[in-house]
Amino acid sequence: PEAITVAELANRMAERVGDVIKALMQNGVMATQNQSIDADTAELIIEEFGHNVTRVSDADVEQVIHTVEDKPEDLQSRAPIVTIMGHVDHGKTSLLDAIRKTKVVAGEAGGITQHIGAYQVTTESGSTLTFLDTPGHAAFTSMRSRGAQVTDIVVLVVAADDAVMPQTVEAINHAKAAGVPMIVAINKIDKPSANPTKVRTDLLQHEVVVEQMSGEVQDVEVSAISGQGLDELLEAIALQAEILELKANPGRSAQGAVIEAQLDVGRGPVATVLVQNGTLRQGDIFVVGEQWGKVRAMENDQGQRVKEAGPSVPVEVLGLNGTPEAGDVLNVVETEAQAREIAEYRQQVAKDKRAAAGAATTLEALMQKA
Ligand code: GTP
Ligand code: MG
Repeated sequence: PEAITVAELANRMAERVGDVIKALMQNGVMATQNQSIDADTAELIIEEFGHNVTRVSDADVEQVIHTVEDKPEDLQSRAPIVTIMGHVDHGKTSLLDAIRKTKVVAGEAGGITQHIGAYQVTTESGSTLTFLDTPGHAAFTSMRSRGAQVTDIVVLVVAADDAVMPQTVEAINHAKAAGVPMIVAINKIDKPSANPTKVRTDLLQHEVVVEQMSGEVQDVEVSAISGQGLDELLEAIALQAEILELKANPGRSAQGAVIEAQLDVGRGPVATVLVQNGTLRQGDIFVVGEQWGKVRAMENDQGQRVKEAGPSVPVEVLGLNGTPEAGDVLNVVETEAQAREIAEYRQQVAKDKRAAAGAATTLEALMQKA
């Protein structure tokens, strides 16, 4: 059970702090407004004031958001979620642009506008792949630390004229720490100074053994400028995805992760959500990190309105009560009351944590002065 300060308890009941302190005294508990009392005492006081007790704990939250176990027969294949990583200027953005230009909405007139930080492409052989456009290395780590493991496959971009550089090594370490398989895209192969062999031997020193070196890691020579090798790269990703046998249950209520979010002047808080399991539908009530909401509208990666989004589909979601953070996990729940309660509970936990951290530094500062 959680503890609560006297002031916070009074605040939540909308009663005067003095009255709460008095009631505590009558029950033999001496406490000032900034002191914490245990949950049992708080419950007693709440009842004395004639309010209803609703206690939320981590366990309650778990129960509300993780009730459904997926049955094997309900699982269906889903698209892999792919993140591109690599050293500065090695061509990550160019590569993504090139893939998008050749693959996204081929039929749509000049339709390469990207609306959200994630998009889907379909390969020649008919596999669908989801690319995340956002994460720099820091974002990748922070998303992971927030509990959102969103990437299934990392494409490591290494420029053939520059070979392995510090951020290449960083990306390798990130992928390894996350346990995510890698595919090496040896980029800028069009350049006269390109030396793909150097890339492969450099990688050996970081225990990345590519297929050309008789290892397991797929490597593809590409050029974001000429377009060489792009189809091959997409097929390599599709092959890796097949090996991973990625599955999800489109029949359950949705769980997803926030890729990016911002407060839009006209539309309010907007979040790009990658659905990881289940299907997110218009009208669904959800909790996301410390926020909650009800899906008012959704747009896909091409800016089209959609009524639902299944596993591995990125969508922009409207209808949030606050702006979540990248990496926050979204869970659909049954009722608005549940969503609000969980969000408020999480806000409180975060507030308490910050207060505790603040108190610790103050104490430390005092000790140092003494
Ligand atoms: P950061 O986002 O700054 O880390 O860079 P990035 O990895 O996204 O690289 P970006 O795509 O911005 O490319 C850097 C430079 O390399 C640009 O001038 C590109 O035009 C150039 N470039 C990227 N890919 C290729 C390629 O395949 N061939 C050649 N010749 N130039 C390339
Ligand atoms: Mg870039």
